[in-house]
Parts: sequence; C-alpha cells; structure tokens
Amino acid sequence: MSKTERTYIMVKPDGVQRGLVGAIIARFEQRGFKLIALKLVQATTEHLELHYADLKGKPFFPGLIKYMASGPVVAMVWEGLDAVKTGRVMLGATNPLASAPGTIRGDYALAVGRNICHGSDAVDSAEKEIKLWFPEGLTQYSHSQENWIF
Ligand code: TYD
Repeated sequence: MSKTERTYIMVKPDGVQRGLVGAIIARFEQRGFKLIALKLVQATTEHLELHYADLKGKPFFPGLIKYMASGPVVAMVWEGLDAVKTGRVMLGATNPLASAPGTIRGDYALAVGRNICHGSDAVDSAEKEIKLWFPEGLTQYSHSQENWIF
C-alpha cells in the first residue's frame, strides 16, 4: 500500500561541480514531492564512512569515500507518497550504463563511480541517513497554511 514517506536524497560532488543541483531539485519538485530539508555540506571522511558503513570492505570503498569528500554535497530530505521507492526510480540504476533515459543517472551520468546522486534504498535506511545528515532536526511546516495557490 502507498504511504507518505521521507527519503534522503543527496547530490554528490560531481553533480554539484557540474551545476546539476537545480535540475535535480526541479525533478523532485515537479514530481510533487515536498522539500523538508536542504543544505550544502563538505562532509568529512569519518561522516562518509558512517553513511556508507554497509559497503566497508568493498574494493571500491576507498575510492568512493575519496570521491564523496572531493567537494561539497547537497543533502536533502523529500517527502511524499512512496518517496523512497519513487526516489530510487527517479535516480535510475546504480550503474548509469543500466539507467533508463529519463532518470537522473540515465540522463546525466556515464560511470558508476561518478553517478551524481544518492537516494535511500529503504525506509529504515532513509531514517538512519536523515538522522546522520540532519542531526539538528527538521523544520515543521505546512503548505496549506497560506493561500498562495487558489
Ligand atoms: P550502492 O549503495 O550499491 O548503490 P546506490 O548508490 O545505487 O544505492 O553503492 C553506493 C555507491 O558506491 C554507488 O552509488 C557508486 C559506488 N559504487 C562503485 O563505485 N562501484 C560499484 O561497483 C558499486 C556497486 C558502487
């Protein structure tokens, strides 16, 4: 059954350097998701190792951490119906060569080690990632309190 969920979406350093932050945000806005949190962060190696703790020991892990620490990332939380699963569909496959055109990776990326964006792969990992990247907590607000749209 469809449920309102929150997912952690991150534009990786290559996405920031290539000026794709706005395009990626636009896709989530246009799909109908609600922006809950957003910030530009230069992550430390220690922080990134916590984010990717499940991948520790993989041969690509050291290169992944170095790439993720090579510049700032844009950390975001988006909310909506089935946000976790739909976010993954919008991102495309991990390897951009397998990502369908129309997905973020399928439209903008070529290499698995430079795949532009991250999205939580399950509701429980989304909760962990949101706590890790936004320990300060999230702003509460409702779009319906103001009559901007008639
Ligand atoms: P993973 O969590 O498996 O994929 P996803 O980002 O789609 O959830 O892997 C995390 C990142 O690690 C992935 O986005 C890119 C990098 N990576 C590689 O560099 N080489 C690889 O073979 C894999 C599987 C991932």
